[in-house]
Amino acid sequence: PNIILLGPPGAGKGTQAKRLEEERGMVQLSTGDMLRAARSSGTEMGKKVAAVMDRGDLVTDEIVIGLIEEKLTGESGGGFIFDGFPRTLGQADALGALMDRVGKKLDAVIEMQVDDAALVARITGRYTCGNCGAVYHDVTRPTKVKDTCDVCGSHDMKRRADDNEESLRQRLMEYYKKTSPLIGYYHAKGLLNGVDGLAPMDQVAAAIAKVLDKG
Ligand code: AP5
Ligand code: ZN
Repeated sequence: PNIILLGPPGAGKGTQAKRLEEERGMVQLSTGDMLRAARSSGTEMGKKVAAVMDRGDLVTDEIVIGLIEEKLTGESGGGFIFDGFPRTLGQADALGALMDRVGKKLDAVIEMQVDDAALVARITGRYTCGNCGAVYHDVTRPTKVKDTCDVCGSHDMKRRADDNEESLRQRLMEYYKKTSPLIGYYHAKGLLNGVDGLAPMDQVAAAIAKVLDKG
């Protein structure tokens, strides 16, 4: 199936997307990861978006739609997981049109529901493997051996420049203003499924599995 993981920063979209890749051979399409890759490889586009991202603002629809468009004709394995995209009504309309063009359809939108209070602790405790992208947390999901990735053994642990309280506040504001209207948009299309994102990771994964397996 092709699904969207929708939810505020820190809701657990990336964590669950990685898990769906491992367990179901699905393919994660994270616009946040693509933008960070563009930054670290120093492309013109990467340089252009760096400050915007660090502030916690959204980059333009045009840029992220272009990134997604490039991937849609690629390998889709057990289906695409759209992670952090779409984030505006304009992006949602564009995704619909692109999917039509490549003859694919969207099967479900999973809204990961969490309250703001939990997000600060999630975001300020997060670190990721710079080699394979595995997501960890100081308290809820530390690596088994300190500073060593459980998945690939790399010691290259990274913290994101936008994972501070001030940028998080801006990211949340952007979410409520520009992204949360997508909840009604996809509800009207009969695609919306709410999942309790505050539950432990395994329970969240089980709730998502239930949505995917119901057909
Ligand atoms: P992006 O990279 O998409 O960041 P985000 O949406 O802010 O989401 P996060 O990656 O912060 O959170 P997540 O939900 O994936 O949580 P995670 O699984 O890591 O975007 C970054 C920026 O890029 C944007 O601000 C914007 O500038 C730009 N951008 C990207 N896409 C764009 C678009 N489409 N349009 C315009 N601009 C765009 O989990 C968080 C932490 O919690 C981890 O430490 C994890 O271990 C822990 N955790 C996860 N689940 C649980 C659980 N169930 N219990 C306890 N702890 C948990
Ligand atoms: Zn790793």
